[in-house]
Amino acid sequence: MQELRIPGPTPLPGEVLQVMSRQMINHRGPEFGQMLKKITANLKQLFQTKNDVLLLTGVGTGGLEAVIVNTLSPGERILSVSNGAFGNRFASIARQFGTDVNLLSFEWGKPVDVDVVRQSLQVDPKIKAVLVTHNETSTGITNDLAAISAVVKEFDKLLLVDAVSSLGSIYLPVDDWNIDVVVTASQKGWMAPPGLAMISINQKGWQAHGEAKIPRYYWDFTHAKNYLKKDQTPWTPPLNIVYALSVSLELMLKEGLSNIITRHAQLAKTAREGVKSLGLSLFAEESHASNTVTAVAASDGLDVKKLLRILRDEHQIILGGGQQKLDGKIFRIGHLGWVTEDDIKSVLSALKVVLPQAGFRGVS
Ligand SMILES: Cc1ncc(COP(=O)(O)O)c(C=O)c1O
Repeated sequence: MQELRIPGPTPLPGEVLQVMSRQMINHRGPEFGQMLKKITANLKQLFQTKNDVLLLTGVGTGGLEAVIVNTLSPGERILSVSNGAFGNRFASIARQFGTDVNLLSFEWGKPVDVDVVRQSLQVDPKIKAVLVTHNETSTGITNDLAAISAVVKEFDKLLLVDAVSSLGSIYLPVDDWNIDVVVTASQKGWMAPPGLAMISINQKGWQAHGEAKIPRYYWDFTHAKNYLKKDQTPWTPPLNIVYALSVSLELMLKEGLSNIITRHAQLAKTAREGVKSLGLSLFAEESHASNTVTAVAASDGLDVKKLLRILRDEHQIILGGGQQKLDGKIFRIGHLGWVTEDDIKSVLSALKVVLPQAGFRGVS
């Protein structure tokens, strides 16, 4: 069996796989209503929020687009903070919908510098909202969202957060950190297939929604909220993914959020220490290294593409490559969702064998 160790989609527990083969039900009937009610309540617990949580049919990028079209207006000044491919994507979506984006870029592999965010807000009072990626999956960096949020709130701006690959796996108390709108996606730490975006919105987020003028239809939060009052979604939901999420959330709550967070921290530590002991270097600055994905730099003659190919063909282990300008320069080990310490050790053992075959002249 293949060991899928990319940063999403992730492997699914047996119970989750099994429930996906259930027969379809009426999405306007009481059975679905009960299920959606429970999912919403469970998501609120795991988001650590008392505010609204909406379940939208779409992948993470759809969720990011939903956030933009529901809270912003064309011409509005936005500060888009980015230190990787997903930060840039968030900015591109905002730009595509006509907002006036000030892209504040940081070096890939380095964390966002909170002082620079503060300076940017100081020099441009017209900024309406700040876009931030909590966990930059392309580089394996977790930005200091608590500190960023504190600065954004110092200036009383709207904070829109991509937590696609962190929420439910890495500590992110949504209400305590004053996150106005946050988006995550089912195929990451949530142990469900791709296809659902989950979004929470607080009062400031709803206020922005009330003023937002970007045209929207499918993603409209008002529709979603009105239907949620009837325990329904506005459009036909992907039922088998909803079944999957209902079971995976129960599994998550059984494990307990703090245990899940600790497990991810431990897995990440094992991954980081393991790759370093093989003579490899981490790509991400270690002080901010992610607990859901470890990015490893190609050094000492390592041919990353060859490494990934041999791992796949001869060891049935699938790791992630680098994205965009990091293509061929890094590889990434996903350790989020349904993953154990042994799974990571198995990746490390295979790496030890394959690294020299892929040209690595370091220790290994
Ligand atoms: C941080 C982050 N944002 C957004 C996305 C986009 O999600 P999707 O591929 O589901 O559109 C991803 C997916 O890897 C991600 O890791």
